[in-house]
Amino acid sequence: MTAQRACALSELEQDTAVRVVLDGVPMAVVLDSAGEVHAIGDVCTHGDISLSEGFVEGETLECWAHGSAFSLRTGKPLNLPAYEPVPVYVVEIDGDDVLIDPTVTKEV
Ligand code: FES
Repeated sequence: MTAQRACALSELEQDTAVRVVLDGVPMAVVLDSAGEVHAIGDVCTHGDISLSEGFVEGETLECWAHGSAFSLRTGKPLNLPAYEPVPVYVVEIDGDDVLIDPTVTKEV
């Protein structure tokens, strides 16, 4: 499997998460305030909630339901009630294309 086009870089708004599904794998794609693009699993590990509906705060994405904030770098929740991490995907930028391989997660 190779990286697939997830979205256009120019479509991403800073500090806003976008839900993308590649090969049935839901992920939240975030352009942070430093201009870096991240992709983490879109399903909160505490409940069946889409993290991309939550709030970007620095390098975290906070679940709107009960407030667990997940690191965009490691996928780990930084506070309860969630305690299991979400996967983190490798992102490549090619011109205006955001490329992600949904089968490859980052070792963190
Ligand atoms: S469902 Fe996300 S913190 Fe509870």
